[in-house]
Amino acid sequence: MKVLVVGGGGREHALAWKIGQSSRVDRVFVAPGNAGTALEEEGSVENVDLADSDIPALLEFAKQNEIGLTVIGPEVPLAAGAVDAFSAAGLRAFGPSQQAAELEASKVFCKNLLRHADVAQAEFHTFSDPAKARLFLHDREDVPVVVKADGLAAGKGVIVCDNREEALTAVERIAGSKEFGEAGCQLLIEERLVGQEASILAITDGRTIFTMPAAQDHKPAYDGDQGPNTGGMGAYSPTPLVTDDIMRTVEERILVPTIHQMKRSRRPFRGVLYAGLMITKQGIKVLEYNVRFGDPECQPLMMRLQSDLVEVLEATVDGRLDEIEPMRWDPRPAVCVVMASEGYPGSYTKGHPIRGLDAAAKLPDVKVFHAGTSLWDGLPVSHGGRVLGVTALGDTISQAKLQAYTAVKCIRWEGAWCRKDISDKALQ
Ligand code: AMP
Ligand code: GLY
Repeated sequence: MKVLVVGGGGREHALAWKIGQSSRVDRVFVAPGNAGTALEEEGSVENVDLADSDIPALLEFAKQNEIGLTVIGPEVPLAAGAVDAFSAAGLRAFGPSQQAAELEASKVFCKNLLRHADVAQAEFHTFSDPAKARLFLHDREDVPVVVKADGLAAGKGVIVCDNREEALTAVERIAGSKEFGEAGCQLLIEERLVGQEASILAITDGRTIFTMPAAQDHKPAYDGDQGPNTGGMGAYSPTPLVTDDIMRTVEERILVPTIHQMKRSRRPFRGVLYAGLMITKQGIKVLEYNVRFGDPECQPLMMRLQSDLVEVLEATVDGRLDEIEPMRWDPRPAVCVVMASEGYPGSYTKGHPIRGLDAAAKLPDVKVFHAGTSLWDGLPVSHGGRVLGVTALGDTISQAKLQAYTAVKCIRWEGAWCRKDISDKALQ
């Protein structure tokens, strides 16, 4: 079978690499992919020069090339109805429908759905009129809140505020100057929760659910969780924070009720349901849902997955997850360190040649997933903010961390940097 992976980040390199290992697969196409997928030796992986948002062109490519399964990586094509378009054409695509993708594409939809499903979350108020939001902030006690744009904003539409003044500024940025565009047409003001964060991802066909081992992302740019928010500077799995007890509670009180409520709302969910959670003193609460694999959480998860991913993806699309064996995982932890361009998450320059990738690749239990890279004269150069996800397995989290950073030391380009403390939270 031929498989098409849509997207060009670290998540899609990890997916293409894992899909390429499947005995069911002859060829993997990645649209648009990156230098990592172009140079991938595992399976037969090939880039296709199509944007991940160009649904008609992706559909045409899939028809012309007899693609047996398309896997949509990012949220934007999912929210634009990519899976619906493929299904309507009689093609199999992994991911939720446009209506089900609302769970990520509209935070207001998500919060209301969780309220109906009786799933624990931060208290919230929604506003379409910024004047009412300002009035609300003036009328209540000056307590920390989080102000969020309703729509997709590449992870940037969430502003965590210490006080009323910051919250008013956030309302102005989202709904006044429309910093996040249409995403800010509605906004949310939420209670600010305190606790430890974890990501729990599950694959579901709407009836059966396969929960994956917990992971932890590192969103702030700098060590010790300082600095501006990013797409994620590193991740590891499993996290000792999430005990078996917590995992059971998350399945029973969060994931299952959410999937049921989606069915009741006539938006049956198929694909990856990613719960961003805060483990608070008052219990486990949902911060947000994503409707896809996390990036970079996908990289350590794919490194640990021992089952044939394609078997799981196909069973999900066909609605027969109950017929296959549960996913098997390497018990060893994996740590992924993101190497970024100088200036990220602000502006940065591109086109710097990346050296040392061969030396890193020779280290045992290491896989360097590419994110923002491209080929220049056949050689990899930096082409984005998050450039590489250097991922390693180890017998313990400390050993996986050590191995990942040993690989990081082999790699260099002008302005390359990374956080030095990925996975340290596990050891606290
Ligand atoms: P989100 O995109 O909703 O996951 O938000 C991005 C980040 O903002 C999360 O990873 C949290 O660190 C933080 N955040 C979001 N909502 C809240 C909340 N209600 N309380 C505290 N922090 C939050
Ligand atoms: N790692 C966070 C995300 O994928 O949204």
